[in-house]
Amino acid sequence: MSDDSLPSPPGARTGARTAAVIPAAGRGVRLGPGAPKALRALNGTPMLIHAVRAMAASRAVSLVIVVAPPDGTAEVKTLLDAHALPERTDFLVVPGGETRQESVRLGLDALPPGIDIVLVHDAARPLVPVDTVDSVIEAVRDGAPAVVPALPLADTVKQVEQGGAAGEPEPVVATPDRSLLRAVQTPQGFDRETLLRAHEVVTGNVTDDASMVEQLGLRVVVVPGHEEAFKVTRPLDLVLAEAVLARRRLNDGF
Ligand code: CTP
Ligand code: MG
Repeated sequence: MSDDSLPSPPGARTGARTAAVIPAAGRGVRLGPGAPKALRALNGTPMLIHAVRAMAASRAVSLVIVVAPPDGTAEVKTLLDAHALPERTDFLVVPGGETRQESVRLGLDALPPGIDIVLVHDAARPLVPVDTVDSVIEAVRDGAPAVVPALPLADTVKQVEQGGAAGEPEPVVATPDRSLLRAVQTPQGFDRETLLRAHEVVTGNVTDDASMVEQLGLRVVVVPGHEEAFKVTRPLDLVLAEAVLARRRLNDGF
């Protein structure tokens, strides 16, 4: 359904139904010992719940599929039941796999018919603003088979020689033009068939879903990401995430 009078671009998919797959099955080794990363609390609420709310905040998202740690499926179901989530959104929980890629595929296996657009969103990016989610969906609706939110880099990047000894100085081989580089975030958005095909065809280790679509030779586009969509990876990221939540609370007048 189109809600405005502007003509839709060719290939546009108005009225498409959207689901979000949230891989949350990682241990969080870089965060240090403790519960699986997605179950760690940020200001008292598990990171995963923040991530689910971030997806459900988009009115376009009608289903959220959480890919849980294989031994934590029951715990994740209990958590979802215990936290207030929008009524318009359905939830499914499936057990994850050994790698992120496998976890995403297990989430995709649970997609019901009738979903046309799929978002894949890291549980480890709990604070992505809804405007970023909506702009990814919008770009897929406008006809892009794969869309990634991303930001320009703050740091200059060096490419180093392969196979150096750990801890030894590493010879630099190149300095890529920073203005052409982007740091990629999630949610990444896809035309459903494109993403399913990428997961069927592409093997080998990848760290994001869009790169699988690139390997199919299809067009992937970048839309502006957001600094609050950063990934909680190391202990300092927990401090930053809680500071962002505290700032939001102040701004919301709580
Ligand atoms: N993930 C997953 N299944 C895996 C590995 C990762 O679902 N087997 C998910 C994580 O839960 C996270 C997202 O993929 O939400 C991004 O991965 P990353 O930030 O690397 O999380 P972890 O793999 O848990 O962390 P680490 O690499 O430090 O162990
Ligand atoms: Mg990992």
